[in-house]
Amino acid sequence: MNAFLSDLVVEYHKLQSLHWYVRGPEFFQAHAKLEEYYDGVRNLVDDVAEAMLMEGLRPVSRLADFLAQAQVKEASGEFVDASAVVEVVLADFQLLLDEAKEVKRAAEEAGSDLVAAKADGYIEHFSKAVWMLGQSR
Ligand SMILES: [Fe+2]
Repeated sequence: MNAFLSDLVVEYHKLQSLHWYVRGPEFFQAHAKLEEYYDGVRNLVDDVAEAMLMEGLRPVSRLADFLAQAQVKEASGEFVDASAVVEVVLADFQLLLDEAKEVKRAAEEAGSDLVAAKADGYIEHFSKAVWMLGQSR
């Protein structure tokens, strides 16, 4: 679960970077959507960490540990157009969806009803976002 948490933390900062650095004719729409995305991911970060604590697990909490455990690659910090942002975020959200499904499977095997139930919400969140991003290509 720490891998999922770490990817969510890196994705939060990546979405904020993209929110700042997106530019071009679709700026206004992309800028607003990216803010909505990072607000959503920030809420998931807290939810996942607190679910871990409720289950007696230890969420990582240091930046170095998040970076070490994340698969999501940080944003480049360069200006980017909205169509490239869609591709980057779609790939990341697909990865997060796959990880959420993995969290659910592991929770079911471990008999953790709480985490399995929470994972359903994460799966729902990223399934919808992946579908909508796919529609916008
Ligand atoms: Fe902003």
